Amino acid sequence: MQMRRLGTNGPLVSVLGLGTVKLGRTTGVKYAGGPAPLVVPTDGEARALLDAARELGINLIDTAPAYGTSEERLGSLLGKSTDWIVCTKAGEEFDGDRSRYDFSAQAVRRSVERSLRRLRRERVDVVLIHSDGRDAEILERSGAPEELERLRKSGLIGQIGMSTKTVGGGLAAVERLDVVMVTLNPRETADLAVIARAKELGKGVLIKKALAQGHAVTGAGLEFAVNTLGVTSVVVGTISPEHLRENVSAIRAAACPESF
Ligand SMILES: NC(=O)c1ccc[n+]([C@@H]2O[C@H](COP(=O)([O-])OP(=O)(O)OC[C@H]3O[C@@H](n4cnc5c(N)ncnc54)[C@H](OP(=O)(O)O)[C@@H]3O)[C@@H](O)[C@H]2O)c1
Repeated sequence: MQMRRLGTNGPLVSVLGLGTVKLGRTTGVKYAGGPAPLVVPTDGEARALLDAARELGINLIDTAPAYGTSEERLGSLLGKSTDWIVCTKAGEEFDGDRSRYDFSAQAVRRSVERSLRRLRRERVDVVLIHSDGRDAEILERSGAPEELERLRKSGLIGQIGMSTKTVGGGLAAVERLDVVMVTLNPRETADLAVIARAKELGKGVLIKKALAQGHAVTGAGLEFAVNTLGVTSVVVGTISPEHLRENVSAIRAAACPESF
């Protein structure tokens, strides 16, 4: 598996990362798959998934407090291994029915402290502001970036960033933070401008929804994302070891040999 550095000073991460929404959350999501209700994997299935990920060379895992029990389950499944690079988020809470957002400094600190407890880590590698879409306002007025900067300074966080929903917000985020998580697939390309600017500034870029949440599952989607200059890692959500293997094959066939 090809590895790329997350920004100028970040850790080396696999070009394919593992998204874990479906590890802990079954409601309020828009995944493909018809009317059948989502079911979270059992502990045995989740362990098999993570074992497969590690064997395939994946070291980046993306989670969030808003992904139900995802953080807590990862805490017990990943154990004390420091081989994994864990990215989580702050600012969004999901109660099983709806999301609530709080980007105040106090809420962000409480959230990160809780993530550390749930993940059973003394330090989390990456924390992203989990935007509700008001990207620019959150960056300018909420207190969240300043609090993440304090937490990074105190050593509790390695890299700070934002999962954005607007191009303007993404452009503002890469000026200030270490990492952005943006949407990119052949049908959603607006964030290419953000990725290009991140590349100029030496910032890390994580991709979400490369398969359009399962609505556009093609190797071409992964090839497009992984070969876009400036992209560090494509975080694909799956709870299927078989799909994970298919995605790794598609990425291996597509990824340029040089580090981006
Ligand atoms: N911060 C944010 O606002 C935000 C929003 C969305 C996502 N994210 C992060 O980005 C990650 C990726 O986004 P996403 O999970 O929403 O969407 P995605 O990666 O575009 O698609 C995930 C869906 O694709 C299916 N899938 C994956 N590989 C497949 C394959 N080879 N064949 C058939 N189906 C396949 C998965 O189903 P199976 O489980 O059956 O494989 C899942 O339903 C998330 O998991 C999360 O970590 C962040």
